[in-house]
Amino acid sequence: ASRYALIGHPVAHSLSPRIHAAFARQAGIDMRYDAIDAEDFDAALAAFDGAGANVTLPHKQRAAAACSTLGDRARRAGVVNTLVRGDGGWHGDNTDGLGLVRDLTGRQRLDLRKRRTLLLGAGGGARGVAPALLDAGIGDLFVVNRTPERADALADALGEPMRVHPRYLDDLKGLGEFDLIVNATSATRNGSFPGLPMSLAGPRTAAVDLSYGEAAVGFLAWARAAGARDMVDGLGMLVEQAAESFALWHGVRPDTDAIHAELRARED
Ligand code: ATR
Repeated sequence: ASRYALIGHPVAHSLSPRIHAAFARQAGIDMRYDAIDAEDFDAALAAFDGAGANVTLPHKQRAAAACSTLGDRARRAGVVNTLVRGDGGWHGDNTDGLGLVRDLTGRQRLDLRKRRTLLLGAGGGARGVAPALLDAGIGDLFVVNRTPERADALADALGEPMRVHPRYLDDLKGLGEFDLIVNATSATRNGSFPGLPMSLAGPRTAAVDLSYGEAAVGFLAWARAAGARDMVDGLGMLVEQAAESFALWHGVRPDTDAIHAELRARED
């Protein structure tokens, strides 16, 4: 069997091994996909002899540095979630953004074009999705982060100063209403969530949390209370980014509906 893995810390509860096992069965590919829990990313990668890997928290930036070549989105984002072994070393790519856009435009049937967008967070998650959102034709992108320097750095990296605007957390009240709000902070995951003004959301707003399950509940409840129209968690994105990674490794993009439905059913 060809070997693949997810490298992160922690990874014990990751759904990725299960998703990739389903894809491999569907495609008739003999593939092994393990979860490798590693605090030291470089050591784990050096010890790994497989053909490809996914990278998750907290190593996505470190992974970008370990690659000898980077795909366009990984380069623009500065973060890598997919590694493909090449002749001269690792090729790094990022499928998070494409996965998110696929879920929003395909499964959720949302038209992203011209949407005035607020991105909450400027860490690995936010960096991963921002380039693909811009490519999908959203309107202005406002980036707000607790640590303002990281919002500035992300806006700089995106290289579209007419379209991408870093703002302070304190400015949120004056920013008006958004057509798309993406929560890419881990604030809900660790139990605290900064108070967001209700004025950010309205009847046109789609609110999206990149996490799923319990971690997405706080933000999506806020969005509902603020009057948003669509509330979307990150489960669909998780499945779609996995399918994009699988396609990079094997050249076939699996159908995602069955495994998505199975994971969704298991949540209830
Ligand atoms: P990820 O890869 O999930 O984005 P990360 O790189 O650690 O992980 O980034 C976490 C994000 O959540 C950051 O934007 C972080 O803000 P800082 O850059 O200021 O650290 C944000 N975040 C985490 N806890 C938060 C909290 N309690 N309030 C507001 N933002 C928070």
